[in-house]
Amino acid sequence: MNKCDIGIYGLGVMGQNLSLNFASRGFSVAVYNRREADEENITNTFITTKCQGKKIIGTRNLEDFINSISLPRKIMLLVSTGNAVDEVINQITPFLDVDDIVIDGGNSHYRDTARHLSQMESQGFMFVGCGISGGAEGALKGPSIMPGGSFQAWDKIKFMFQAIAAKNEDNNPCCEWIGPEGSGHFVKMVHNGIEYALMQLIAESYDIMKRLLFMSADEICSVTSEWNSGALNSYLMEITRNILKVRDTDSEPLIDNILDCAAQKGTGRDISISALELGVPVTAISESINARLISTMTTERSLAAHEFINTTQYAGDRKALLKVLEDALYCSQIIVYMQGFSIIAKGAIEYKWDVDLTQIARIWQNGCIIRSKILKAMCASLKKNLVDNVLLNPTFKETIKQKHSGWRKTIMIAITHGIPVPVLSSTLSYFDGICSEHLPANLIQAQRDYFGLHGYEKINASRGIFFHSKWDR
Ligand code: 6PG
Repeated sequence: MNKCDIGIYGLGVMGQNLSLNFASRGFSVAVYNRREADEENITNTFITTKCQGKKIIGTRNLEDFINSISLPRKIMLLVSTGNAVDEVINQITPFLDVDDIVIDGGNSHYRDTARHLSQMESQGFMFVGCGISGGAEGALKGPSIMPGGSFQAWDKIKFMFQAIAAKNEDNNPCCEWIGPEGSGHFVKMVHNGIEYALMQLIAESYDIMKRLLFMSADEICSVTSEWNSGALNSYLMEITRNILKVRDTDSEPLIDNILDCAAQKGTGRDISISALELGVPVTAISESINARLISTMTTERSLAAHEFINTTQYAGDRKALLKVLEDALYCSQIIVYMQGFSIIAKGAIEYKWDVDLTQIARIWQNGCIIRSKILKAMCASLKKNLVDNVLLNPTFKETIKQKHSGWRKTIMIAITHGIPVPVLSSTLSYFDGICSEHLPANLIQAQRDYFGLHGYEKINASRGIFFHSKWDR
């Protein structure tokens, strides 16, 4: 029997769909799933229901799985993040040959990936931490792929990975080598942070339309549909429009029957922690995580709901509010992407990775969850490894000048009526911060010197010269 081009370990939705995607591009695939109690029949069911006539073979034990892949083996793990990845690496390692390539296609933490890489390389294997975005449909039809790790592996996996990836408008694959160590998973972590913030921004706009303008799901659907055909075109706006159309069994819009309590798997939290460690303000991303956390406080919210705020219908010009809301969304989204690229740039400096921001923006143009018209425009304003202030780029400067008063107005209206807009407002504060020649940090420095003798620099002295004062004399 001919050996397979690649092995997929883990037949959850992502594992199944990536196997089908590889097979649809002409590659032969060996698949394996652990056979613990509730997962006994996963491989069998997948093979019999979805793989008829396709070059996918199911294997019943690890040894058969590994032996059915051609050398050097390419084995992709699609298992839960955390301990499961460690366990699977330990299970398969005894069966591997030198130069085999293990690819972790989950959302592992980039530090775990760096650890796995050095563990595997020290034994003569190669390891790739591979961010994959696009959800179930992307995995099947073409995801955006962010591989990083053992560079020698790239040569051997490039043609396969670029074949299954989404293509951008120029027909280039949305898959490019990111860099060494855990850089692929770091970039995927940032992708997910941006994803959280963009989702929250759309949710805040939905809230304004629902609770301030008393619009129905159908009416909000029409607005998102209109936005999606203009400057706010994006995958997330498109799915929001689609979601708002769906009816539940009681014929009501399904969205109105869904509990307002948001879950998360952890990549958003990871980026916030990393951002604090790296000293990069990703305020929009952190606020979007906090917003999900606040949403889970269902009991507290329900008890306090009627005590302080009584949201009434907006009495002003409804059309004008929708227009400024569109402007606010546009401006906030630019800040979200900007914060995302800033942390990649800083991470690359800190960890000495030679990453190319323009390539990352390019491979995010299709297949992934954060693809959008704004991101496409942003491509042109990025340099290889530094983020200029994109706000000063001609592409955005004039538009933000036109739109930023609408941004302010939207937030003013929302907060006056008690509608929480944490990401719309934190992005505006970030914008105002980086556009302020003078900030009150002089007072912070004086306070630090007052109680801690930490010293302060003076406006008319050279940087690096520190002064102290006897503040309470
Ligand atoms: C993607 C998604 C995907 C997934 C995340 C986010 O790019 O395809 O980011 O990886 O949806 O796990 O999940 P949470 O919202 O649960 O953190």
